[in-house]
Amino acid sequence: MADMLEVKDLCKTYVVDKRQNNVLKNISFTVEEGDMVAIMGPSGSGKSTLLYCVSGMDRPTGGEVNFDGENIGNYSEKKLTEIRRNKMGFIFQQMYMMKNLTIIDNILLPAVENIGSKKSHREKVERAKELLHKMGIPEVADHDINEVSGGQLQRACIARSMINQPKILFADEPTGALNRAASTEVMEEMTRLNEEGCTIMMVTHDSRVAARCKRVLYLVDGTIVGEYKDSGDVNTSLADRERRLNNWLMELGW
Ligand SMILES: Nc1ncnc2c1ncn2[C@@H]1O[C@H](COP(=O)(O)OP(=O)(O)OP(=O)(O)O)[C@@H](O)[C@H]1O
Ligand SMILES: [Mg+2]
Repeated sequence: MADMLEVKDLCKTYVVDKRQNNVLKNISFTVEEGDMVAIMGPSGSGKSTLLYCVSGMDRPTGGEVNFDGENIGNYSEKKLTEIRRNKMGFIFQQMYMMKNLTIIDNILLPAVENIGSKKSHREKVERAKELLHKMGIPEVADHDINEVSGGQLQRACIARSMINQPKILFADEPTGALNRAASTEVMEEMTRLNEEGCTIMMVTHDSRVAARCKRVLYLVDGTIVGEYKDSGDVNTSLADRERRLNNWLMELGW
């Protein structure tokens, strides 16, 4: 498989009140096409910063980020915006949807804003409907965003992140605000998307969520201190995968 993301010696330093905070320290790793990777680690270890730096939402202080064969580290804001819109999808813990739009119009928004797209408006609407179906929530298409459950809203956010057919999906604690049942629903959809070929990189505090990933990178104080690889055995139950992952996490002091 080709590398979707190749990160070399990535550093990020924030300067606050003239004091330097080295948040990411020479981080290197690769994410192959079709991979599903979780980033775990203590609060403040730099997980969100890492996600933002590799997805062009924040600028690294040093190192290289190669995405889909392009070194995006020095790209202009305009070019990064274009790449984010056409090739990347984003999901966050706090769901951002426009209050004055229905669910389907929210999902359509990134497609409508994608003025360079060759698709007609009708094709975009068809795609939005297809995604609502895929996420199991076709019935809420015309609901306002306050007329759906948390799990439905987060699945709508996934649909929105997929509207422009991204190559990679970045998610920062996508299940962080959800109860267990809704979290399972969301993870089932994300696993399905991955099985269909979408590469996924997500930050999570939840080992139940991370157990669905093929790899887990463990970050402490801006450094990757461990990497877990799932055996990939289809006969292993999710509960067993979670148990194994928890044992590994415990060894790292989780
Ligand atoms: N925009 C910013 N300006 C200055 N410092 C920042 C900024 N964003 C993050 N930091 C600092 O970088 C460090 C890592 O933050 P980050 O949000 O990446 O942690 P995290 O691992 O995602 O934590 P959590 O699990 O709590 O979400 C923290 O010390 C934080 O204060
Ligand atoms: Mg975070």
